[in-house]
Amino acid sequence: MRLENRTAIITGGANGIGRATARRFAAEGARVAVWDMDDEAGLALEHEIGPEHLLYTPVDVSDPDAVEAAAKQAHATWGKIDILINNAGILRDAQFIKVKDGEVLSRMTLKQFDEVINVNLRGIFITTRAIAPYMIRQGYGRIISTSSIVGLYGNFGQTNYVAAKAGIIGLTRVWARELGRFNITANVVAPGFIETDMVGQMPPKVLEMMVQRTPLKRLGKPEEIASVFLFLASDDASFINGAVLCADGGTVVGT
Ligand SMILES: NC(=O)c1ccc[n+]([C@@H]2O[C@H](COP(=O)([O-])OP(=O)(O)OC[C@H]3O[C@@H](n4cnc5c(N)ncnc54)[C@H](O)[C@@H]3O)[C@@H](O)[C@H]2O)c1
Repeated sequence: MRLENRTAIITGGANGIGRATARRFAAEGARVAVWDMDDEAGLALEHEIGPEHLLYTPVDVSDPDAVEAAAKQAHATWGKIDILINNAGILRDAQFIKVKDGEVLSRMTLKQFDEVINVNLRGIFITTRAIAPYMIRQGYGRIISTSSIVGLYGNFGQTNYVAAKAGIIGLTRVWARELGRFNITANVVAPGFIETDMVGQMPPKVLEMMVQRTPLKRLGKPEEIASVFLFLASDDASFINGAVLCADGGTVVGT
């Protein structure tokens, strides 16, 4: 019970890595609010865990009014917000400039760029800005945001996603400096390739290449990222602030 008496908001917690984290946090004694837009999966998770431990709230993290209202509601319910897991994310992959036989075939569209920045980066700004004031007033907080190893090293076809994931590292380092004096830490988890619906959108050939580059020769499991979130949210990580923790089976050293 490493999170007994703690309260946690997990964005994008209805599926994949967020869902595994929500399950783990509830099992470790936390009261969890899952903010997501997939009502069916969110309500199924609430039903599975039980509303006294896990509440689903429909929230689009890119909508400031919805986020402010949900933060207020979570604080009114619990009286405090200890942990924020910024995990909601989307992909809109496209080559920056696609060329064939010397001809430019296509470019990443502004829509593809804006949609990803809006959810993956601006959404974290909006969500953390809504919750940090409660953490400051209570003199405690853990802010953990999901980047990716591609945010450190780049990836073909992901100008938008990589820009957002690198941006998350930047804003976390600012928050580590600005909020530390209030006993709030801000850290980043950078997963490698993890078996979720998100990687299901990647071409199987590319995924197989990533597996071959990974010394452990497999994809990660959502539960293996959940345990990294748990570590950073727990008292064991009380002096870790502004860090980027990679959990990638060694993909990066294998590259
Ligand atoms: N799967 C991987 O290999 C991998 C690797 C590195 C980083 N990540 C990151 O981990 C996080 C979780 O990814 P995943 O693989 O579990 O993806 P996933 O697609 O399985 O889950 C993402 C969740 O976010 C929710 N979501 C999307 N847009 C939202 C919005 N505007 N507001 C609220 N919720 C929203 C979705 O409904 C979904 O439940 C993402 O930030 C992703 O970029 C994933």
